[in-house]
Amino acid sequence: MSSVNKVSIEATCTTPFPVAPLAAGSAEGPSVLFVDQSGQLGGAELSLLPLVTMLATRREVLLLTDGPFRQRLESMDVTVHLTIDDRVARINKDAVHLSWLFALPGIVRQIQAIARHARRFDILFLNTQKALVLGALGKPLHRRKIVWHLRDIMSPDHFGPLQRLVVKWATRYAVDYIVANSHATAAALADLIKCDPSAVPVVYNGVDAGEFDQVDDQRTKEVRRLLNLADDTRLVGLFGRIAPWKGQHVAIDALAQIPGLHLVLVGSALFGEQAYEKSLREQAVRLGIEDRVHFAGFQDDMPQWMRAVDMVLHTSTVAEPFGRVIIEGMAAGRPVIAAAAGGVVEILQHHENGWLVSPGDATALAEAIEALYADPGLAQRLAAKGLINVKRDFSLNAYIAQMNKVIRGIEY
Ligand code: UDP
Ligand code: GLC
Repeated sequence: MSSVNKVSIEATCTTPFPVAPLAAGSAEGPSVLFVDQSGQLGGAELSLLPLVTMLATRREVLLLTDGPFRQRLESMDVTVHLTIDDRVARINKDAVHLSWLFALPGIVRQIQAIARHARRFDILFLNTQKALVLGALGKPLHRRKIVWHLRDIMSPDHFGPLQRLVVKWATRYAVDYIVANSHATAAALADLIKCDPSAVPVVYNGVDAGEFDQVDDQRTKEVRRLLNLADDTRLVGLFGRIAPWKGQHVAIDALAQIPGLHLVLVGSALFGEQAYEKSLREQAVRLGIEDRVHFAGFQDDMPQWMRAVDMVLHTSTVAEPFGRVIIEGMAAGRPVIAAAAGGVVEILQHHENGWLVSPGDATALAEAIEALYADPGLAQRLAAKGLINVKRDFSLNAYIAQMNKVIRGIEY
């Protein structure tokens, strides 16, 4: 399913993104500086984690904000550097406006810091967009080959014109290699930079299904006890950071349509969406279902929490770039009901290995949940197929092997 092929370069595409055959570098491969804008444990960071430890013998990480991601990396013996600027950190996709002007001194400092560190390595691996822009702007200073791991859908639904313009510039003039996390993200970028989508290599995220196999009944019962629920209470789960576009409000609306069902929201407002979290609690009270909506906060043990629910929901209201929680739900052996847009439809096929609904449609979501409770045989078939597919198409080993091929293929 994943395609890391030698790319064809269209005449209209000014930037080729090759995945070359193995370069004749040193036996241990190139040294890599990884840069990520976030210190939080979001999907982009959790997905980078195994790459940092597995792709290069000499590697360090530079973060633009501090947080549990740094601690996680350091616990794995990875050297982490921080270059933090509050004003740059405040520039986000909702508040780009002119905030970058005030942040200019900080931007310059971070560009210089990235370049200074990058000069000690063969390759600069940019994870997330702020890292891309700052790493790209500093290219005349560091002159290192740049790899960008694209994890966002660069469409007007997700990003403003200024952000799209800057990314277009950076991609065209500074990025040497690119890896997209789905064909959806590859296609949106290709559209932005006027390039054939096949010129953007895709590597899907992977998970270790073995970690999910190891969860026994005792551990899932622990979760139920924490939530004060009986072992046979009907419980569905929505996993991921709390953010308006992740659509937790859609799941709460669906829950209100199904008497007796409980919903656990696992995740926290990682990037300042506390007002949205408050609105979710108010929504549950307004609908009179606050005793059936459980806010579990951020949890480290995803296998344990996922195996404690009957079904895994995914409710993003705009196209999800990839959606690690979906492959994790499949690895947990649970039927996954997901919003059909973006990378999701590359993972799930309706009534084959999961159930797809229109994004934002709470009634369709409620109907899907009821249908699967009404037909346990179908629920079981979808979950079993999902588990087979995740082991075959979205394994951690395949992800690392394909990314390794990308890194080893770089001529530096
Ligand atoms: N996650 C976690 N603890 C939580 C909630 C989420 O570890 O309490 C992890 C989840 O297992 C998944 C990641 O956060 O690996 C979310 O990634 P996804 O690609 O689904 O969404 P993103 O947040 O990157 O948009
Ligand atoms: C980003 C995307 C998410 C994807 C993750 C890992 O955070 O929002 O959809 O799964 O990166 O690539």
